[in-house]
Amino acid sequence: MRRPLVAGNWKMNGTTSHAWRLVNEMTDAASSLEALDVVICPPFILIPQVVKQCEGTEFAAGGQNLEVHAEGAYTGEISGSMLVDHGCSFVIVGHSERRNLYGESDALVAEKTATAHACGLRPIVCVGETLEERENGRTASVVERQVRAVIERAGMGVFPAGIVAYEPVWAIGTGQTATPRQAQEVHALIRGLLRQENSDVAAQIRILYGGSVKPDNAPELFAEEDIDGGLIGGASLEAADFLAICRTATH
Ligand code: PGA
Repeated sequence: MRRPLVAGNWKMNGTTSHAWRLVNEMTDAASSLEALDVVICPPFILIPQVVKQCEGTEFAAGGQNLEVHAEGAYTGEISGSMLVDHGCSFVIVGHSERRNLYGESDALVAEKTATAHACGLRPIVCVGETLEERENGRTASVVERQVRAVIERAGMGVFPAGIVAYEPVWAIGTGQTATPRQAQEVHALIRGLLRQENSDVAAQIRILYGGSVKPDNAPELFAEEDIDGGLIGGASLEAADFLAICRTATH
């Protein structure tokens, strides 16, 4: 049995006071969340505060991105070792917003995954197709290309500590969730690709679904065989919604 994992991706949201209330509400409920890994990924600037608030709980913190270089003249960037230094144990890599808005290529995402692993961070590697790619029947080939790029550069050694998140781009922030069947199909495809390389790793790795997950659609998504939890955007900014989704994952 794979232990479920639910990660909250706050994206560029949250003030110190909002984060304070949100995380306190969540940590108050932490003891009711058994047999589940919970990861909070706030904006960089809120990481020290969130890490402090999570002290003494099982909640972990993660970054939303990292730079591949360890230090130096990279204005505006944050390295993996800085995330570790501030108490992060996870980092999201290759989110579709990074790929689409900031031009991150498959090669760069693979490099970032390798860097995260080398720093001791557990990468949450995001893959997923756009609406156009789905409509043109290219979902499988796009996801395969994205996963293979990571395996080729970073190697299977980044898994199973690493995590894969399948996030169809057309489902992110749109309220249009993939059906459980659509999601399961791609999750099985991803696990199958990993199985070709290493069957033990494929059996252990957690594959999360992301894209408009809410308390009402989480139960049927998480019931699918190859869906091991979720990467939650909008609903992770409301403690009640995020906690409801986390509870679903423990069933
Ligand atoms: P959403 O975002 O839950 O708001 O759709 C998911 C994500 O981008 O990780």
